[in-house]
Amino acid sequence: MLPFITKATCLLLLAAGVQALADRSASSSPPVFRSTPIQNHFIVQYRDDLDPVARQAHQTQVHAIARASGRYQGVIRNFAIGTFSGFHGELDAQQVAALNRSTLIKRIQPDATVRISSPLHVRDTSGAADLSNIRTVQTATWGQARISHRLPNANSFVYEKGGATAYIIDTGILVTHSEFGGGPQGSQRAVWGANFVNTVDTDEDGHGTHVAGTVGGLTYGIAPKTRLVALKVFDGNGYGTWSGILSAISWASNETDARGGGSLSVINLSLGGDYNAVINDAVSAAVLHHNITVVTAAGNENRNTSAVSPASCPDAIAVGATDSTDTRASFSNWGPAMAVFAPGVDILSSWITNANATARLTGTSQASPHVAGLAAYFMGLDGPHTPAEMRRRIVGFATLGRVQNAGQGSPNRIAFNGNALEVNRV
Ligand SMILES: *[C@@H]1O[C@H](CO)[C@@H](O)[C@H](O)[C@H]1NC(C)=O
Ligand SMILES: *[C@@H]1O[C@H](CO)[C@@H](O)[C@H](O)[C@H]1NC(C)=O
Ligand SMILES: *[C@@H]1O[C@H](CO)[C@@H](O)[C@H](O)[C@H]1NC(C)=O
Ligand SMILES: *[C@@H]1O[C@H](CO)[C@@H](O)[C@H](O)[C@H]1NC(C)=O
Ligand SMILES: *[C@@H]1O[C@H](CO)[C@@H](O)[C@H](O)[C@H]1NC(C)=O
Ligand SMILES: *[C@@H]1O[C@H](CO)[C@@H](O)[C@H](O)[C@H]1NC(C)=O
Repeated sequence: MLPFITKATCLLLLAAGVQALADRSASSSPPVFRSTPIQNHFIVQYRDDLDPVARQAHQTQVHAIARASGRYQGVIRNFAIGTFSGFHGELDAQQVAALNRSTLIKRIQPDATVRISSPLHVRDTSGAADLSNIRTVQTATWGQARISHRLPNANSFVYEKGGATAYIIDTGILVTHSEFGGGPQGSQRAVWGANFVNTVDTDEDGHGTHVAGTVGGLTYGIAPKTRLVALKVFDGNGYGTWSGILSAISWASNETDARGGGSLSVINLSLGGDYNAVINDAVSAAVLHHNITVVTAAGNENRNTSAVSPASCPDAIAVGATDSTDTRASFSNWGPAMAVFAPGVDILSSWITNANATARLTGTSQASPHVAGLAAYFMGLDGPHTPAEMRRRIVGFATLGRVQNAGQGSPNRIAFNGNALEVNRV
């Protein structure tokens, strides 16, 4: 047994979006989504250095004041991600104005609707990596071929055995899908984690099931041994809230700790909203305080990734999309805040219609699961990676100089799995 298998590995892929990051078809112009504030619902972020006792006392007081009005729910849910702490509450405007002046609070902002892009979280369970076992199979998707070859247009998928666990923060997962079989003793590798949007504990949309298939599907995945955990934050129409996404990151961070630490963890955030300091802080906290690697979609608006959250968070790995000719997808965001490109056009993966269903989607939400899958794969193969180590590995292995029209300031890199057959080709 290799020493790393005893450590918890986790990868988190978050695919939410304030703007749609996943098209339903190969269309290159995703619908523009405008985030709408939710009346009287706020996200309150405490100062990083605030003592937990003072925080609890303050929160109790806020809750009591809000409830005294008889009209508001007060504190609804807490967040705790490393030194990032706060809550989601229903509060009146006067109370918010007073809170905004409190020295205990770093930021307060309205909760708002968010539209799907694709979240995920991968975690290692077992998977004894067999380093000598390089497999070459006929590829099921062009993305698998691209990720495992230095040159485009290959027709095989080359990988080495390995397993990890991924948390998919998205629309949920059809956990019974045949792509998610092959677990220990014939079990399903996809399991339900938590639901932060409604009470329907399955994928009502398909996006999360598709992302999960790209990360860890038996046929369509980059890391086909991965255990996949569904954290549902988007409903059947692809809508959710920022507070739901913060809750899911908080849940995953907590789970990671409960399982012994997250230096084998990846979070993939297919979120594409306008710059949002609270979200960026939460992502940084998951990376820096919980050792979770966070992979995020660069976004689908053909604009500077620096203007988008969480892709602009310097602690996340932001992924842009290319097509099968290695050309940047016309919708893909670009710029120096991006880490790498990955296949994101016409990607075949699992779907929700039935346990064998498939669909092809296009978007940076389809590119980011390739990299989240890659992170899970590296963890399964070689054990724990801190987020910084994972970033260096993904960037270091990437195929250089192939992307056409990469966009101003973009790194010219395509994600690559480093397999021994291809690693020294250029
Ligand atoms: C809190 O105060 C800041 C600075 O005055 C302001 O920009 C922000 O909009 C306020 N937040 C809320 C929720 O009122
Ligand atoms: C964290 O996880 C523990 C154990 O799984 C659970 O009891 C607790 O309620 C969780 N806390 C949050 C804030 O989710
Ligand atoms: C992160 O992971 C590394 C490597 O496994 C470990 O040395 C370090 O203590 C971890 N840090 C935290 C905050 O868990
Ligand atoms: C994109 O944003 C970055 C960071 O703000 C900036 O340095 C760069 O100049 C921007 N690129 C363009 C083309 O505006
Ligand atoms: C899926 O495919 C398997 C294997 O071909 C088959 O046994 C099963 O009945 C199919 N399930 C559905 C829902 O089509
Ligand atoms: C990571 O998120 C991006 C979108 O931000 C998505 O395209 C990608 O599939 C995700 N990666 C994994 C491994 O989940």
